[in-house]
Amino acid sequence: MDSDLSLDFLRVVEQAAIACAHTMGQGDRHKSDQVAVETMRRVLDTVPIEGTIVIGEGERDEAPMLYIGEKVGTRAKGRDGELPQVDIAVDPLEGTNLCATGAPNAIAVLAAADRGGLLHAPDLYMEKLVVGPSAKQAVSLDATVSENLRGVARGLERDVQDLVVIVLDRPRHEKLIDEIRATGARIRLIGDGDLSAGIAAAVVGSGVHAVMGIGGAPEGVLTAAAMRCLNGEIYARLVIDKPEHEARCRAMGISDFKKVYTSKDLASGKNIIFAATGVTDGALMRGVRFFGDGTRTSSLVMQSDPPRIRFIDTIHVEQTRMVRIRF
Ligand code: FBP
Repeated sequence: MDSDLSLDFLRVVEQAAIACAHTMGQGDRHKSDQVAVETMRRVLDTVPIEGTIVIGEGERDEAPMLYIGEKVGTRAKGRDGELPQVDIAVDPLEGTNLCATGAPNAIAVLAAADRGGLLHAPDLYMEKLVVGPSAKQAVSLDATVSENLRGVARGLERDVQDLVVIVLDRPRHEKLIDEIRATGARIRLIGDGDLSAGIAAAVVGSGVHAVMGIGGAPEGVLTAAAMRCLNGEIYARLVIDKPEHEARCRAMGISDFKKVYTSKDLASGKNIIFAATGVTDGALMRGVRFFGDGTRTSSLVMQSDPPRIRFIDTIHVEQTRMVRIRF
């Protein structure tokens, strides 16, 4: 897949973020999500690819657009010519509640790989452990919380008490939170958004050192795509505790229900492209800012081969007005 596509994918996430940022704080998470989905779908059709959604808004019969299997890109509009065949994972608005309440860390996200390069993960929960480059050899999903945090601390050459671990604030995490507290590590409980938390954990200086707990599997695949670019790691295992979960996994070609996935399993493509734009302010990206003459967005655009990480600040100028750019 051509890395030049990264700027096309940047346009896609920027426009989705701008669309839903207009709804920030309106208290209507479905509306916020809907405008992000519609905008992302529309802009994806201007990208010169023969794209297939592999992680999207759900199965064909439950989502009107960006459903799994949907064709996107200019090829879908019937333009001729050789276009790259690309699999796409999207989360047009990661953190619908965060946007609806104006809370930090809502982002618009997309990851792409050559055909077959992203796992078709069912929309189930996934147990996750996300760490940065210096700790990835020192942790395991089968180790205890205390062993893992000692491993992270060793990798970062600091004490366990100096670590910050992000955990989704859910009743299912009561035991995990107790175990982390017992080690002395600090915890940041978040209402939503374990994907942006995972990205932060792989970036030195973000103040986040690990993400632990159970979140969505689709977000897990997107986290894996980001880890491939950032040299961080996600260890993940599907949570399969009902017979119907097994059936859903089998339908997507998954038969090993206990498998521990790494970023290379979840996002196996040779070249992965990952693009995200901040909707509300976050650790790595600022939220969308509207001003009289235009709109300003802050994005992260990455590729794995060759590795490139770009923080992109864009001013979208309204053509019809006089623009005054401020640094
Ligand atoms: P939405 O973007 O759909 O609102 O989901 C956000 C999120 O918090 C993810 O970051 C996380 O993986 C998942 O939901 C957790 O699911 P649940 O809210 O069911 O615990």
